[in-house]
Amino acid sequence: MRKQLKDFMEQIGKDAIAVIPAAHEQTRSYDTEFKFHQDPDFYYLTEFPEPDAIAVIDPAARKSRFTLFVRPRDPLMETWYGRRQGVEGAKKNYGADKAMPIEKFESELPKLLNGKEKLYYRFGLDNRLDQVILNYLSGQRFRRLKTAYPPHTIIDPTLLIGEMRLHKTPEEVALMQKAADIAAEAHVVAMRECKPGLNEAQIEAIIEHHFRMSGAAGASYNSIVGGGANATILHYVENNAPLKDGDLLLVDAGCEYQGYASDITRTFPVNGRFTKAQREVYDVVLEVQLECLAATRKGVTVKDRQDLSIELLTEGMKKLGLLKGKTKDLIKKGAYMKYYMHGVGHYLGLDVHDAGRYFTEQKARFSRPFEPGMVLTVEPGLYIPADDKTAPAKYRGIGIRIEDDILVTEDGNVNLTVGVPKDADAIEEIMNS
Ligand code: GLY
Ligand code: MN
Ligand code: MN
Repeated sequence: MRKQLKDFMEQIGKDAIAVIPAAHEQTRSYDTEFKFHQDPDFYYLTEFPEPDAIAVIDPAARKSRFTLFVRPRDPLMETWYGRRQGVEGAKKNYGADKAMPIEKFESELPKLLNGKEKLYYRFGLDNRLDQVILNYLSGQRFRRLKTAYPPHTIIDPTLLIGEMRLHKTPEEVALMQKAADIAAEAHVVAMRECKPGLNEAQIEAIIEHHFRMSGAAGASYNSIVGGGANATILHYVENNAPLKDGDLLLVDAGCEYQGYASDITRTFPVNGRFTKAQREVYDVVLEVQLECLAATRKGVTVKDRQDLSIELLTEGMKKLGLLKGKTKDLIKKGAYMKYYMHGVGHYLGLDVHDAGRYFTEQKARFSRPFEPGMVLTVEPGLYIPADDKTAPAKYRGIGIRIEDDILVTEDGNVNLTVGVPKDADAIEEIMNS
């Protein structure tokens, strides 16, 4: 049995049962669907790749601790819509102790849940399944004191699975390194191919082509490819403007490899040479990025690192003439938010913005210290609006972000995305060689 599933069973205990649903296909329009993406919690526990499945996890069961309800084999459906594992495949290839057609789930539910103290189930994710569970619970109420013993405590498993997902196993780290390597190469290819006259869409295509050609499933989020002032829009995804000589290009793109995401941002000159003004802003961001990367280590809290990024970037804004005044006052007033308005990083894993809490106590926001096995991004940026009359004219319309993926270790950290350069000289060398 998969380690993740075994650990989950140990944590929920023998008086509990868990019902964890897979994702469903989502309609794109009329009778076409979006490309299917498995629910990450379900995938984490089971690795089962198909939609419309449910895992029932019963640590106390003697024979069937892990039951998978799946779409049954069906020659006609498989001819139209693709192969299915069916009940045999669920057992043989995914280690289910028992597998049944998904249609049987509702009628099996009373048998499965009867006698359990606790039910781990997340309401609010799958309305149809919510209704099945609620029907079961209300139906059992009348019988409760006579013949039935339904679970009386319902627990949302999101937090428990989230905490597990937050701490990566060596096998998960290996997959994340692969996702990071593929994305790093893609960024290098984009730097080499970039030139004035290309369209942002073509850079997006070069990057995503490299993802697929290298064995990744595709992008792990919508790629951001913003030339010139488009780089000052944080989630710019139009990606359809021509790239101009003399502009910078911001590329925020990562891939998904066997479920795991990478997330890299690089900002480089469209024509291969930074102007003096661009480089001045670039070097401010790079220096902050290096400091925050070094601070991504055991014991430092999410808040410590965010505060560090704010302090250093505020200093940088003063140096560039974007802000004037005492650093302490500028921070207190939130003046820096005009040019730096996001977090310095987030957890990374099966989701690009991965699971797990950012605090240790509800009241102390972002109080969580980093621990070995966590993977975080570090991604400070400066975004100077094109119409900002208070900024020096030479900096207007410059947007810069530099983002790496960092594994926290016992004695420091490992930069998973070291494969793509970020030093301005090194970028120029790649682009001109
Ligand atoms: N690309 C999303 C992020 O950097 O958080
Ligand atoms: Mn990110
Ligand atoms: Mn990113």
